[in-house]
Amino acid sequence: METITLLQPDDWHAHLRDGSALKRTVPDLAKQFARAICMPNLVPPVKTVDEALAYRERILAHVPQGLHFDPRMVLYFTDQTSPDEVAKIHASDYVNAIKLYPAGATTNSDNGVSDIRKVYAVIEQLEEYQVPLLLHGEVTHQHIDIFDREKRFLDEVLTPLLRQFPKLKLVLEHITTSEAATFVLEYDRNVAATITPQHLLFNRNDLLVGGVKPHFYCLPILKRQSHQQTLLEVATSGNPKFFLGTDSAPHARHAKENACGCAGCYSAPTAIELYAQAFDQVGKIERLEGFASHFGADFYGLPRNENSITLVKEDQVIPTALDYLDGEQIIPLYAGQTIAWRKV
Ligand code: DOR
Ligand code: ZN
Repeated sequence: METITLLQPDDWHAHLRDGSALKRTVPDLAKQFARAICMPNLVPPVKTVDEALAYRERILAHVPQGLHFDPRMVLYFTDQTSPDEVAKIHASDYVNAIKLYPAGATTNSDNGVSDIRKVYAVIEQLEEYQVPLLLHGEVTHQHIDIFDREKRFLDEVLTPLLRQFPKLKLVLEHITTSEAATFVLEYDRNVAATITPQHLLFNRNDLLVGGVKPHFYCLPILKRQSHQQTLLEVATSGNPKFFLGTDSAPHARHAKENACGCAGCYSAPTAIELYAQAFDQVGKIERLEGFASHFGADFYGLPRNENSITLVKEDQVIPTALDYLDGEQIIPLYAGQTIAWRKV
């Protein structure tokens, strides 16, 4: 039986939510990952270092006994974020970055930035302190086609931003297109990207052919197969600019299976196996460790983990549903399907 051992991976983009959701999300993530970037799009959002530290304590209270899990925190960028907050992030042991959602781009992004040029004073400080800016890279104008929103962001927002701040450290989160992959490759080491399991394993046919599959609906939306192919190429290339970020985003079953379904795929319980499946499908399983366990830590300037995990090539059926929010259900990504890898 084929077996691989990797340094324990980290998830550089995860949504854990708050309150009783943490009973589900924290153990699921902590069983797989040593660290996770905990996204700040709560209601209300996590806007200051003090709020992030309080949220971190609420997360830590749900780490199962015997597991070591180190939540890495992120602030939510608003039009009101003070340039002085950046020095506080830089000085903090637990807050690693700031996340910019264009207002209206996705779940709980109403308090996001309305126009990036209005917050250049904060971005100047980010460049100065080398604090990473994490970007949801989609424009939000109503008239722009949902499948073009990432590309338009590159042209209209990111290119001018990097012209003004060429040394800014940034992560283009959950990239979905060939254009985004090429963009990241064209810049220096300060520009990196995360890639989700759903964007490596699926494309818009999985979402739409034969009926709408709401559990494949996430933002940025799944694109055509040629983009999926490019993402697989760059993720498995060994290039350290691309690393693991699941964007695991829990929504209760009824909120997904709904006339106006929420965006987000819940991949946390089997995320590393889903990535193993994707890497193995293109014959590159040996490239998984760099992507999952080295490159993100290196980018953030954090030490690599020291303990290991083992994956075996053995069929695993993903559960059809899991308990969530005291009496509700959540449907994990690829529910009921069989994947070829299992974490031991
Ligand atoms: O699909 C998504 N879900 N994309 C995001 O950007 C946010 C996330 C969520 O928080 O549910
Ligand atoms: Zn996200």
